[in-house]
Amino acid sequence: MNIKQEILKAFQANPGRFISGEELSHTCQCSRTAVWKHIEELRQEGYVFEAVRKSGYRLVAAPDRIAEEEILAGLDTRRIGQTIYAHDTVVSTQLLAHEAASKGAPEGTIVLAEQQIGGKGRLGRAWHSPKGTGIWMSLIIRPAIPLPKTPQMTLLTAVTVAKTIRKTADVPVLIKWPNDIFIEDKKVCGILTELNAESDRVNYLVIGIGINVNSVESDFPEDLQDVATSLRIASGEPIRRAAFIQTFCRVFEEEYDHYLQHGFERAKREWETYSYSIGRQVTVRTLHTTLEGRAVGLDEEGVLIVEDADGNRHKVYSADVEYRANS
Ligand code: BTN
Repeated sequence: MNIKQEILKAFQANPGRFISGEELSHTCQCSRTAVWKHIEELRQEGYVFEAVRKSGYRLVAAPDRIAEEEILAGLDTRRIGQTIYAHDTVVSTQLLAHEAASKGAPEGTIVLAEQQIGGKGRLGRAWHSPKGTGIWMSLIIRPAIPLPKTPQMTLLTAVTVAKTIRKTADVPVLIKWPNDIFIEDKKVCGILTELNAESDRVNYLVIGIGINVNSVESDFPEDLQDVATSLRIASGEPIRRAAFIQTFCRVFEEEYDHYLQHGFERAKREWETYSYSIGRQVTVRTLHTTLEGRAVGLDEEGVLIVEDADGNRHKVYSADVEYRANS
């Protein structure tokens, strides 16, 4: 951790309290001049400090940044989020994460951007990723699991996002299979999992997570206004993105470690508690087929089971799912 991160960490650990220059220089093991220099730098970046003679500095306001030091300063994980590449404008964080992963980036690396100009959604769609209002993040993991189990990672990520939202804002959250997070019938988050593998071995997964955090309605293009929402619209409060990312990383690490040791059972159960899909009438469209029926649950691998009108059960691995009014 560098000096700036140490200073931020000290203020995050002592909200509202004055910390003297001497204490900071002691904590960060640097001179008082260095402390002053870094505080001035932080001021340039939008942090507001109150300075009182003999008392020291107090952090009054922090900008909503997704910078590396802002996230690392309060991050209590062992590997998820411990390596961060934070960018301003990129085509897609997915592309950068694949590049980093193929060059050996460690498990848990996250790639973030303030804005994406070529954000990728599922099924070849675009993902609207305007500047400063969302979390556009790609996470690299390297689980030693067989290929057929990799969709479980998407479900585990959806559970993590749902739990993180519940910890951050007082809003209801539901997951639509496989990976859409909804608040009151509008989409707040989408997940795109991409895989680099050989026939029998997973090299790495890049899990792309797009969350509308602080967008207001007019930030969405017209065609999205009826179907998309943000945490801010739903809760009425702005959300600090860095804090959300810290919580996400902590929850993901906990879920993932449990999964690696004990398997998918717990994540499956949690997914089902957040599920919007189970019990609903659905139309499932793949490239070649359309299936109508009722979503009845997940199997042990995380595949959606749909029962048709004749009582036959079908496994749905990847598809566009449309929900119909229950009959
Ligand atoms: C979906 O279609 O619901 C999935 C959307 C995934 C969007 C995220 S934003 C971060 C990452 N980078 C991308 O280009 N896409 C994913």
